[in-house]
Amino acid sequence: MRILGEIWPVFGLRITAGPIGLAPIFDSDIPDLVALAEAGIHDPDAMPFYIPWSTAPQPELERGMVAYYWRTRAEFKPESWTLEFVVRYRGEIVGSQGISTKDYAVTRTGETGSWLGRAYQGRGIGTLMRQTICAFLFDHLDAVEIASGAFLDNPASLAVSRKVGYQPNGQERLKRRDGEVALSQKLMLRPETFVRHDYPLEVEGVDAVRRLIGLDPSGPA
Ligand SMILES: CC(C)(COP(=O)(O)OP(=O)(O)OC[C@H]1O[C@@H](n2cnc3c(N)ncnc32)[C@H](O)[C@@H]1OP(=O)(O)O)[C@@H](O)C(=O)NCCC(=O)NCCS
Repeated sequence: MRILGEIWPVFGLRITAGPIGLAPIFDSDIPDLVALAEAGIHDPDAMPFYIPWSTAPQPELERGMVAYYWRTRAEFKPESWTLEFVVRYRGEIVGSQGISTKDYAVTRTGETGSWLGRAYQGRGIGTLMRQTICAFLFDHLDAVEIASGAFLDNPASLAVSRKVGYQPNGQERLKRRDGEVALSQKLMLRPETFVRHDYPLEVEGVDAVRRLIGLDPSGPA
């Protein structure tokens, strides 16, 4: 009997760097992620996300999260994909780290997004997980540059980007919540300025994912 990770290569991917583990989000991880979001990701008056999902009342919040994770799997195709990882810190689920891109085999770029439960913020975990996904994208998926963006009133995310070596790449006026405009700082990271962490990166299952996203079309099956 084949395992699911052989049929859907994303499910075979594992990235480890010291205390940080990134794995694709399995259905069994979703209740933990919902519990973290329900306990709060940010101050209730703040809104760090482009789509203001995190302040939805229950059961809209949990159903929205489930639908989003399922949708990213269902809509995954080489021309347009999102990978959402569950982040474990010393084995405990603490948040999520994702990457979205279009035409990756040609553009070799995408935008990352992440969040941590509030109890886990401000301890350096956000920096470590961003360094981990960027190292994975540069070293294993041949990324040329990696984008990020944060509203100007999100100092923690902007600080992570600064520490990891991103350069400013313009600002954008976006609709945030109903009737509210907010300025977003766009950021870009290239390998020349990337500040890595000291942990070695251990990656499993990447060859099949490379083929899935069109990087090694003539590679071994
Ligand atoms: C953004 C996020 C993932 C960062 O993770 P984290 O573990 O809190 O980040 P770290 O602890 O690695 O680093 C945070 C940095 O922000 C700085 N920071 C935090 N709040 C700050 C504030 N109000 N003013 C200035 N700097 C601040 C910290 O001092 C730290 O920098 P330092 O290490 O140089 O001192 C996390 O805070 C989070 O989930 N926030 C809510 C969701 C979110 O904003 N997601 C990103 C959307 S773009």
